[in-house]
Amino acid sequence: MSDYQAFIGHIHKKTGLDLSLYKEVQMKRRLTSLRNKRGYGTFQDYFSAINSDQQLLQEFLDKVTINVSEFYRNPTRWKVLEDKILPSFQKEKRKIKIWSAACSTGEEPYTLAIIANQLWDLKDIEIIATDIDPNVLARARQGIYNARALQEVPPAIKKKYFHQEGETFKVDEKLRNAITFKHHNLLADSYPNNVDLIVCRNVLIYFTEDAKNQIYHNFNKSLANNGVFFVGSTEQIFSPEKYGFKVLDTFFYGKI
Ligand SMILES: C[S@@+](CC[C@H](N)C(=O)[O-])C[C@H]1O[C@@H](n2cnc3c(N)ncnc32)[C@H](O)[C@@H]1O
Repeated sequence: MSDYQAFIGHIHKKTGLDLSLYKEVQMKRRLTSLRNKRGYGTFQDYFSAINSDQQLLQEFLDKVTINVSEFYRNPTRWKVLEDKILPSFQKEKRKIKIWSAACSTGEEPYTLAIIANQLWDLKDIEIIATDIDPNVLARARQGIYNARALQEVPPAIKKKYFHQEGETFKVDEKLRNAITFKHHNLLADSYPNNVDLIVCRNVLIYFTEDAKNQIYHNFNKSLANNGVFFVGSTEQIFSPEKYGFKVLDTFFYGKI
């Protein structure tokens, strides 16, 4: 059995995730690159590390389980959005238009609605939330989550915006009404216009460099003057000025 096959078996046992059901060529290439980046020469060594380091395990899972999301994913980044980025908009804008691109099951656009609602009335907040996968969009529209998805939600926010129904939590109707969920393929469809804030996190990692370059250019065009682009916590842009962006804060880019 190859080093990679043995790894797949260990991961299956540890997490229940069966990587043999994924296209091997891409998956193996993606995982080899992650493994090398972390400094492990074999999948056996990489698994030993993952097995004893929760953060490495999380990073690995994020790379392979494409639909994973949660409210306030990487909370310190959302704090920067709330305390620094959005207040700078609020000074100039009565209304705000936000695009959550590749929104998965909705945790991200709902988090955006909650945070923006600290500064604007919900009637002045327009959120477009898109994904390529119709199944996740259907779940996002339902707005029903388990406690795990809400683990980073502050208790007061939980109380204000969610209704507990047994083991699950339902997002309040008024938040849902601020969001339009739509099917959209980042690699093929036309992009919305005049967006103040684009949030696109934890999907660009799956794309080739060429595809990402095109997407950065498209996002830049999609943004209004002084618009901001917020990326995921492993997705910093190398040479942002190439795409007409400047760094505002780690993981936040402003349209030049
Ligand atoms: C890991 S989730 C990210 C969810 C959320 N943005 C977050 O950070 O928590 C990645 C999402 O990208 C979506 N996706 C993959 N390829 C896409 C594409 N070409 N266009 C739009 N969405 C895509 C997947 O369906 C999945 O829901």
